[in-house]
Amino acid sequence: MNLIEGKNLWKWYLSPEGRLDVLRGVDIVVGENDFIAIVGASGVGKSTLLHILGFLDPPSDGELFFAGKPAKDLSPDALAEIRAKNIGFVFQFHHLLPEFTALENLLIPQMIVGRNGAEAKKKARQLLDSLGIGERADHLPAQLSGGEQQRVALARALINDPAVLIADEPTGNLDDDNSHKFMQILAEIRARRNFAVVLATHNMEIADYAEKIFRLRGGKLHPIK
Ligand SMILES: Nc1ncnc2c1ncn2[C@@H]1O[C@H](COP(=O)(O)OP(=O)(O)OP(=O)(O)O)[C@@H](O)[C@H]1O
Ligand SMILES: [Mg+2]
Repeated sequence: MNLIEGKNLWKWYLSPEGRLDVLRGVDIVVGENDFIAIVGASGVGKSTLLHILGFLDPPSDGELFFAGKPAKDLSPDALAEIRAKNIGFVFQFHHLLPEFTALENLLIPQMIVGRNGAEAKKKARQLLDSLGIGERADHLPAQLSGGEQQRVALARALINDPAVLIADEPTGNLDDDNSHKFMQILAEIRARRNFAVVLATHNMEIADYAEKIFRLRGGKLHPIK
């Protein structure tokens, strides 16, 4: 089944200088358990595309589907529910809430889907354990290393068992060692659970963890693996 499908996606931004066409007819299918990397130079529109595929921002033109349903037919509430239950996000900066521990940061997305109390705590601890940061569960983000912060951000993205993980330069702020560690952990957890990944990066070594790679250039995707 296609989880997310974009057909002839366009995105433009209007400014006093005119219209900037960032995406000019992108076609993409994200199927169950796919691992897709989008590479391209800074400013080509990788983040723009990932925001659209994550239903955070609508395309200017073209069609977008979630599990076969046209996004344009879905209310803002229905889209918010899809994001909360079916899509996990990781960005270049961890965006963890600084006043909450790693574990507490994993309770918040569970609250949104109605899971609370001991059950939510147990699930959070198990996931932190499986990402190798169980002993860091009660630390605040500021007490964690950059690599650990990003693994907690990954745990938060996966805590509601999403069908798709959208990762925008998740290793952009990490050194080489931590970048590869992050990608290996992602590969390991993907082998145990079923979820698709759409990853944007400018780093080919990181993109190579994916099964399919597309270069975004001239507003379109070009397959390179
Ligand atoms: N809200 C916005 N309003 C106007 N222009 C925007 C907006 N968001 C992005 N842009 C422009 O769209 C283009 C694509 O930006 P985008 O952030 O998608 O690129 P990117 O490939 O993710 O770059 P990077 O590798 O630096 O993260 C850039 O020229 C950017 O300046
Ligand atoms: Mg970007």
